[in-house]
Amino acid sequence: MSGKVASYLVTGASSGLGLEFVKQLAARKSDSVDVVHVSVQPAEGNLITILEDIDVTKDECKGMLIEKLSNTNCTKIDVVIHNAGGMGTTSKESQSLDNVTSELMLNTVNLNGIGPLRVQQALLSKGLMGVEGGKIVVITSGLGSIGDNGSGGMYAYRSSKALVNMVTKGMSCDLKSKGIAVMSINPSFVATEFGGFGPDKIKDVGGMAPEKSIKQMIQAIDELSLETTGRYMTVDKDGDVPIEYAAGW
Ligand SMILES: NC(=O)c1ccc[n+]([C@@H]2O[C@H](COP(=O)([O-])OP(=O)(O)OC[C@H]3O[C@@H](n4cnc5c(N)ncnc54)[C@H](OP(=O)(O)O)[C@@H]3O)[C@@H](O)[C@H]2O)c1
Repeated sequence: MSGKVASYLVTGASSGLGLEFVKQLAARKSDSVDVVHVSVQPAEGNLITILEDIDVTKDECKGMLIEKLSNTNCTKIDVVIHNAGGMGTTSKESQSLDNVTSELMLNTVNLNGIGPLRVQQALLSKGLMGVEGGKIVVITSGLGSIGDNGSGGMYAYRSSKALVNMVTKGMSCDLKSKGIAVMSINPSFVATEFGGFGPDKIKDVGGMAPEKSIKQMIQAIDELSLETTGRYMTVDKDGDVPIEYAAGW
């Protein structure tokens, strides 16, 4: 997107990966950044629009998002980054085969699996991705890969990300003819507020800095095209460039 003004919509930008996305995107002088659900100060020379109180677990978020966007200067979004999400609980034990409840399954699937679908439906219904073009990026997790599940557990979170992987793949098929490229990407294990353990604790057990993860994810987004739509990528924790997710969907 370098060389022209691009408009990004990032969900869940009040902390962790979303916040770092906004910081790094805002630092690119030629881009404008539109952000859902965030509380950061605008960087000099860039436009950051903060749309607060949009809860992606509720159908009402669709109307709210459109209404709030209509009160901004943003008429076309080039890149949507579906990042809002969470583990669902603060303990792995509550997501075991013995313990996981229907309520926890439904709540987590509603957030991580259906949240991105709601936001995307709202944007598409109002033609906000433009007549042709644009990119949709879904922040998934390696735990959502069925091919990579060799250890079980984490039923709610794994299922929610497996669902969003299917939604992502589906959108890549449905939107190709509209010129919209779609990708899933695993951010790797990153020191954020994810799971409520605290970034320091995640760092202590090998979590990477958000700065490194986001740098690679932005590269993957820049490189995404209609030729590569439907890709499942991952941040390479041992390297500097994003790679294809080897285990696949
Ligand atoms: N960190 C990791 O190691 C890791 C690994 C794989 C995948 N991921 C994925 O990366 C994404 C970002 O997570 P993170 O690590 O940056 O965690 P985080 O620091 O907890 O950030 C989560 C963000 O999502 C927002 N959010 C949560 N529920 C929401 C809702 N109902 N409506 C709108 N926004 C909501 C949060 O906002 P509020 O707190 O203001 O509600 C926050 O801004 C998630 O999808 C997560 O599953 C993370």
